[in-house]
Amino acid sequence: MKAVILVGGEGTRLRPLTYNTPKSMVPIMNRPFLEHMIGYLKEHGIDDIILTLCYLPDPIQRYFGDGSKLGVRLSHVVEECPLGTAGAVKNVEECLNETFFVFNGDIFTDIDLTAMMEFHRQRGSKVSIALTPVDNPTIYGVVETDAGGRVQRFIEKPSPDAVTTNMINAGAYIVEPEVLSYIPRGQNFTFEQGLFPLLLERGDPVYGYQSDAYWIDIGTPEKYLKLHHDVLMGKVKKSFHGERLGEGIWVEGGCDIHHRAELEGPIVIGRDSVIGSRARLKGPAVIGRYCTIGTGSFIEGAIVWQNTRLGRGVLLKNCVVAENVVIGDRCQVAEGCVLGGNLIIGPGESLPQGTKLWPQNSA
Ligand code: GDD
Ligand code: MG
Repeated sequence: MKAVILVGGEGTRLRPLTYNTPKSMVPIMNRPFLEHMIGYLKEHGIDDIILTLCYLPDPIQRYFGDGSKLGVRLSHVVEECPLGTAGAVKNVEECLNETFFVFNGDIFTDIDLTAMMEFHRQRGSKVSIALTPVDNPTIYGVVETDAGGRVQRFIEKPSPDAVTTNMINAGAYIVEPEVLSYIPRGQNFTFEQGLFPLLLERGDPVYGYQSDAYWIDIGTPEKYLKLHHDVLMGKVKKSFHGERLGEGIWVEGGCDIHHRAELEGPIVIGRDSVIGSRARLKGPAVIGRYCTIGTGSFIEGAIVWQNTRLGRGVLLKNCVVAENVVIGDRCQVAEGCVLGGNLIIGPGESLPQGTKLWPQNSA
């Protein structure tokens, strides 16, 4: 079974995490987001995957190569300029001659794709859209269906008064190749504003597959942090890398954890990291590879990317710190802060709640 994953977007709402890192490469439990997604597709028998790339393609291509390390066949197509969600699929039309899946490259979910395919086949659908309930539909594509699941209307990012249901487009589709003929070649064209309205206007069968499985998109730093907390707290099934040192504590090889450090799970620590004396780590939290957590530092609910160094007595609370950051002694980083990569924070600084710092080498 084949799938196209759309990973060309700039991820602007996830900044500053996506200045130097494409959205699909931001680490989730110390592994690129896309690696989790590919693993999930593989579980459902999807092992022939086309990545449609545009923004910062190099790190993605370098990391994933031909997919053999993950046990899938991966091909990459880079767009010279963004073709939009449907235009990106049209661009790889030659490779798609059977029913196939399409995924937004920023969703993390447990939706049963096998059952969705059965639903699609039984209905004789041309396109099936996975639907998930959310609290705030206005930031998504809202999908109205009839009692049999047939889509009546698709409204992308509706104003609050136009919201008629909390079921939204989860960013996973099953598509019959014949609908590709409705998409113009070489032009920016989307599923959401272009293809779906067109199919509905024509009266072609488009169905919504409702699921209450875990679903989140990592569109913003808040959701990025929430996904980590959910995974660590067991709200979504996932196995963790590393050796289980205690209740909810997973540590990868080469780490040096001082015997006077205190660890309270769920915590994941990447390889070759050093945790100093009297440091306290309180989960849910993730420490990347090659990190140093200085003596007496206190971390609670934070996600720290690789190669970041915390001095002595640093306090991090429910925040995200990207890679290669140096945080001086006694600094305090409050809730909701997001620190882009390659930064140096001088000793004793106190970053108030919600501070976002852009990476040093950004434009
Ligand atoms: N190759 C390529 N080219 N990919 C693109 C392009 C493009 O021009 N534009 C966007 N993408 C990719 C993004 O990288 C992302 O993985 C996916 O397409 C969706 O784009 P987003 O920018 O994340 O869209 P959104 O989050 O505002 O809305 C979409 O997702 C919601 C669910 O998370 C829509 O599909 C909504 O209807 C949906 O509810
Ligand atoms: Mg998105």
